[in-house]
Amino acid sequence: MEELRIFTPATIANVSCGFDVLGLALDTVGDEMIIKKVSQKGVKITKIIGQDLPLETHKNVAGVAALALLAEIETKFGFEIEIDKRIKPGSGIGSSAASAAGVVWAINELLGNPFHKTDLVRFAMEGERLATGVAHADNVAPALFGGFTLVRSYEPLDIIPINTPSKLYATVIHPQIEVKTSDAREILKTTVPLKNAIKQWGNVGGLISGLYTEDYGLIGRSLEDFIIEPIRSILIPAFEAVKQLSLNAGALGCGISGSGPSIFALSKGEKVATEVAKAMELAYEKIGIDYDIHISKINNKGIKILESK
Ligand code: HSE
Repeated sequence: MEELRIFTPATIANVSCGFDVLGLALDTVGDEMIIKKVSQKGVKITKIIGQDLPLETHKNVAGVAALALLAEIETKFGFEIEIDKRIKPGSGIGSSAASAAGVVWAINELLGNPFHKTDLVRFAMEGERLATGVAHADNVAPALFGGFTLVRSYEPLDIIPINTPSKLYATVIHPQIEVKTSDAREILKTTVPLKNAIKQWGNVGGLISGLYTEDYGLIGRSLEDFIIEPIRSILIPAFEAVKQLSLNAGALGCGISGSGPSIFALSKGEKVATEVAKAMELAYEKIGIDYDIHISKINNKGIKILESK
């Protein structure tokens, strides 16, 4: 194999209660990338369409992630990258993660899979470090593993793939404003009152258990965030209205996707997820805010090959 065209998915990080540790991969929204193995060593980004992002390898999240991988292996090849950027940066659905995860996954394939997925997470995290200043793994892990993932530990890195109930759907609405992850992290408090921590870890345990037992009621009860959402929701127009309307439309739970401004809801079945989408749209139409909206099954596979040569 000399060349791969791949789909690399958008992701929802945090999933309400799991700041920096929980994430899930989407199926209907993501970037496309072409990664070519070439004889000239190094990493070259030859083309980016869809967004105005740097082509210089050291300034591009995909470039930096690729270099992190190549620093750990002897190879006589280099790689050229084309990115069709369909996920808007600053949307809260893992735009930088999709590029960083996609490139390291494809290079690993083209080299005959010398690295384990957890290593790929580690390389892709360098892209996140460039994008946000913090090497968080809760977007790149689900992009690489598919489904739901838990970052049980950062040091050492320990990624746990979590069961995904088959009827679970996500609805994600992106009000057309940009929130930089670095800004959304800066406003957070660095300490957590014990009473909030108790509620939060109860929910993390509940969510993991609900995902394994496919107990949709338990999943819904656990999708609550007592720590981050009260602070970040002020950055998102009509957050409370969107959340309330989604829950009224039958969503199991609703919260901020990653660092926002996208808002996600999880539902049992596509029909409810579609009703939730209508409710979310209504909230923004009422106040005249433009949006993108996505309804997606949870993507169990993660990155997918669209074409190989
Ligand atoms: N866990 C990260 C944050 C995800 O919420 O800042 C960013 O997409």
